[in-house]
Amino acid sequence: MDLLIQFAYIVSAALFIFGLKQLGSPATARRGNTISALGMLVAVVAALLDQGIVDFQWIVLGFVVGGAIGGAAARMVQMTSMPEMVALFNGFGGLASLLVGWAALSPTAETFTLVTIILSILIGGVTFTGSLIAYGKLSETIGSGALLFRGQQVVNSLIVLGILGSSVMFCMEPGNSQWLYLVIGLSLVFGVMVVIPIGGADMPVVISLLNSYSGLAACAAGFAVDNNILIVAGSLVGASGIILTQIMCKAMNRSLGNVLFSGFGSGKVEETSVEGEIKPISVEDAYYVLEAASNVAIVPGYGMAVAQAQHVVKELTELLEQNGTEVNFGIHPVAGRMPGHMNVLLAEADVPYDQLLEMDDINPRMVNVDVAIVIGANDVVNPAARESESSPIYGMPVINVDSARTVFVLKRSMASGFAGIENPLFYKDNTRMLFGDAKESIGGLIREFS
Ligand code: TAP
Repeated sequence: MDLLIQFAYIVSAALFIFGLKQLGSPATARRGNTISALGMLVAVVAALLDQGIVDFQWIVLGFVVGGAIGGAAARMVQMTSMPEMVALFNGFGGLASLLVGWAALSPTAETFTLVTIILSILIGGVTFTGSLIAYGKLSETIGSGALLFRGQQVVNSLIVLGILGSSVMFCMEPGNSQWLYLVIGLSLVFGVMVVIPIGGADMPVVISLLNSYSGLAACAAGFAVDNNILIVAGSLVGASGIILTQIMCKAMNRSLGNVLFSGFGSGKVEETSVEGEIKPISVEDAYYVLEAASNVAIVPGYGMAVAQAQHVVKELTELLEQNGTEVNFGIHPVAGRMPGHMNVLLAEADVPYDQLLEMDDINPRMVNVDVAIVIGANDVVNPAARESESSPIYGMPVINVDSARTVFVLKRSMASGFAGIENPLFYKDNTRMLFGDAKESIGGLIREFS
């Protein structure tokens, strides 16, 4: 039996790694997800049998109840609310590690085990409450801005000192559970404290970082209960989370330290002053310009997701191509509200992957584009990121749609995007605003074409 369980662990580790590899491309991501989920099922069943904790009835019951909750949640969640769901999953992962670490405590535990117990409780606790705050900010059940107050650093330093002190005391007196309770309580408070000063556009980075933490907590819990597959799975989540965090920071041209400690979104930043006037355009006039264009670049953003306009966008693309126009999509790494958001939506509408160009590939081509159609994107096409040093997003790489001959911006109003700042693009000479819900505006263009 033991040999079989170890073999199952190796199989599930291989499935995790293979699944992760497949998640690297939109073409194979769906399969990668299924393979990784299968790996997790094998791992959980093998671990439960390994520890001899439960028998088959309980495993089947857990599978049915957990599967039903997960399946219903995944079906019911809106695509635009996916980051909130990921935040909750991270939080529950952290809580699970906290509980596993706590349950592993025994009066005879060695110092190494005690340290891993403390780490799983500490990182798990921070991940749990940090993720709940991140969930609250993203779903706007609490204010989404950064919350800063006088003496915040001092309070945080005191909490860290308290955690360190009580951890050391716990390792010295493992029989005295007061120290453990103190570590648990302070970790939960610290999770809240580390996420409240982060706000606005930085939340996706925080979610990814918390995802990494949930992996590290699981890894520590794996050491605490001496379970190899938990160590492997935790390390994979920890490493991939931190890589994604780095990619996002790079996409915003910010350091992780700046994201975590600068209080971006607290409203203390200078606003960009804009010159020029807004020039609205009708669907009919936009059609005439598009009809004559030979090269069109479509840049989607969060508004395309809100409007669920991906299918009409695909239809418009086909009509433009039938008219002899070359059409490409420019995909910004943080467009929308989660990594790969635009890729997922466009894949759902069967837009070929080779038509999706990353920011670095579309930008040099932009000068040859006749019309750039910005569909519900705002921050990711904001030229203030290049031009205005006082802008909160200064230095963030953006898609340079303003280099195209003409820019159509499809949005409903002059409202700002996620970063809450003015966009000088809307006032540029070559920009025309096509106001309205993106799906309806594109529907109008399709009617004109056909
Ligand atoms: P945003 O800057 O958030 O702008 C979206 C725009 O869509 C808004 O200005 C809004 O204007 C418009 N819109 C909303 N509903 C619409 C509809 N039904 N039809 C037409 N337009 C609609 O989006 P973005 O350019 O994609 O930038 C993403 C931002 O979110 C960045 O700041 C990024 O850092 C942040 N963020 C990214 C992620 C990831 S990982 N992708 C996760 C969280 C946050 P109206 O209200 O006037 O229509």
